Amino acid sequence: MQVAHSKAVISGGLSGLGLAVARHIINAGGEAVLLDINESAAASVLQDLGERAHFIQADVSSEAQIEAAMQQAVERMGGINVAVSCAGILGAGRVLGREAPMPLDNFARTVNVNLIGTFNLAKSAAWQMQNNTAGEDGERGVIINTASVAAFEGQIGQAAYSASKGGVVGMTLPMAREFTRFGIRVMTIAPGVFHTPMVDGMPEEVHAALAAKIPFPSRLGKPEEFASLAAHIIENRYFNGTTIRLDGATRLEPK
Ligand SMILES: NC(=O)c1ccc[n+]([C@@H]2O[C@H](COP(=O)([O-])OP(=O)(O)OC[C@H]3O[C@@H](n4cnc5c(N)ncnc54)[C@H](O)[C@@H]3O)[C@@H](O)[C@H]2O)c1
Repeated sequence: MQVAHSKAVISGGLSGLGLAVARHIINAGGEAVLLDINESAAASVLQDLGERAHFIQADVSSEAQIEAAMQQAVERMGGINVAVSCAGILGAGRVLGREAPMPLDNFARTVNVNLIGTFNLAKSAAWQMQNNTAGEDGERGVIINTASVAAFEGQIGQAAYSASKGGVVGMTLPMAREFTRFGIRVMTIAPGVFHTPMVDGMPEEVHAALAAKIPFPSRLGKPEEFASLAAHIIENRYFNGTTIRLDGATRLEPK
């Protein structure tokens, strides 16, 4: 499918990787609904992206909110054919804290947003996409999830985050297999360390240390590099049912 023909729903669309995907799609001539829990940046982002960008406030971990948002997205754009999950939280913390073990609620919240939220968006999007008129090869839509390299080599303090991202990697193939009959592809990108507000909040020396550990190129990833992979996945129909690392050959160390 051409990026220019995208009618995309992008969770976490007001910041970082999600915003970069939205910008790329809109610059290519497509249309996007940005879903986000935090509406504070909505007005300035919409002004920046122009009239083919829309915003709907929704929490990806709420079934009712995402169902309603997806319905609204279909009404605003006249359908959807791309769904990109970029909403996520770090949820860092050791399993055994100094005073007590990690409260179960912390673990559950991370899994709720990162894993259940990704499933929630995907199933709701696929429900709408199945009614699309089939394009070339019978294609009706593309779903792109965001995991992390922490799905494979999580660091100390990332038990919850890695569990949530590992779940995203795990559901990619069964979902892609199930949706073959509808012509809906499912792919996951596992980013290394990218310059986004999630990471830019860390001190400068942490950035330098992170960059030094990235083999080549020895720097943090640019959100546009993530967006250009997402765009390639949209355009290249032979990508289906797998997870792609985008990480400059990074392998996270234990800490
Ligand atoms: N930045 C990195 O280095 C990096 C690396 C690996 C994976 N990731 C993953 O990429 C995704 C995007 O990360 P980012 O760096 O752009 O982060 P970010 O914090 O810049 O953006 C995340 C967005 O998601 C939104 N969000 C959070 N919880 C939500 C919820 N419950 N419902 C709806 N929206 C919600 C936030 O408001 C924010 O706008 C996340 O899943 C993250 O785990 C990022």
